[in-house]
Amino acid sequence: MKEKIRKIAVLTGGGDCPGLNAVLRAVVKTAINVYGVEVVGIEDGFGGLIQNRHKVLTSHDVSGILHRGGTILGTTNRDNPFKYPVVENGEKIYRDVSGQVIDNLQKLGIDALIVIGGDGSLSIGKELWEKGLPVVGVPKTIDNDLSATDVTFGFDTALVTATEALDKLHTTAESHHRVMVLEVMGRYAGWIALEAGIAGGADVILIPEIPFQIEKVCEKIVDRRVKGKKFSIVVVAEGAKPLGGEMVVAKVIEDSADPIRLGGIGNVVAKQIEECSGMESRVTVLGHLQRGGSPTPFDRILGTRYGAAAVELVMSGQFGKMVSLKTPDIVAVSLEEAVHELRKVQVDNDKIKAARSVGVSFGA
Ligand code: F6P
Repeated sequence: MKEKIRKIAVLTGGGDCPGLNAVLRAVVKTAINVYGVEVVGIEDGFGGLIQNRHKVLTSHDVSGILHRGGTILGTTNRDNPFKYPVVENGEKIYRDVSGQVIDNLQKLGIDALIVIGGDGSLSIGKELWEKGLPVVGVPKTIDNDLSATDVTFGFDTALVTATEALDKLHTTAESHHRVMVLEVMGRYAGWIALEAGIAGGADVILIPEIPFQIEKVCEKIVDRRVKGKKFSIVVVAEGAKPLGGEMVVAKVIEDSADPIRLGGIGNVVAKQIEECSGMESRVTVLGHLQRGGSPTPFDRILGTRYGAAAVELVMSGQFGKMVSLKTPDIVAVSLEEAVHELRKVQVDNDKIKAARSVGVSFGA
């Protein structure tokens, strides 16, 4: 590692997420304004690192992007330098090209790499750090499933999108006397479903952490009808599963750090509700709308704080770390801690308790 930092590289990895541009803006502005250090943006996540695609980011490049969703650098949730697909003799095989990645950065005169990503990208960042590359991480994901931080940026915006969807579904549910099922993202954690469900006044919330029984879901819906409420709102996390059953897998993407893509449980639940309650049910799969659009003020502020703090870590030589919100402070935690364990909803979480108190059923 060089003693003086002159050039920092930054990349956005994994699924896109509102607030990525806010972090990039803060990284570039802090590096230039405070330290007079150059920033190189790597295009399309680790793919750009492997294929040597990059561009210098000036203050001008990051001007006017604070409110914009997506990432000006592009991203991918496929290219893993430790398991990179190549075709040899007509056959697809996987190679470890991490050495090439480190060489590429050295040739560019890069002194440190900031990885903005979820657990997949941060795990790659950790491995590169263990191979000697000075790496600092920034926690990104709408799923909010990183245990070493109070919250990841992007979650708040996804939560607002899901809550607005529930507000809209409420009006049509009420008008048509239907059961409206909303399937939301979140992978193996139920944070989006739980919090949007509470904020959007859902009657049933199904999350991966509490396997559900469809009979209990129907009991709740029928009980509401008997009491005069002829509609119900059900929020289902994509990772929700029935007691003794499995999650519904939509597809498997071999080249991805996390190959499983969940999806489809909403349709299963709606069909079962229709059968057991006799009430007309409809499904909305919110999908990638949750990752799109302008970040909320919370995510813009958190992204700005994370980006500025990441540069501070680089400049003070604190590598192998991730910036983290430990309210009210931004602190540094090790990348090891960052990817050690997914942050799932604890079943004794006070939010679950409060939701139950106001009559929400978790189907259990
Ligand atoms: O991790 C973010 C996320 O949006 C998950 O909630 C979801 O399961 C997954 O990514 C979807 O990935 P893709 O963009 O590959 O469909």
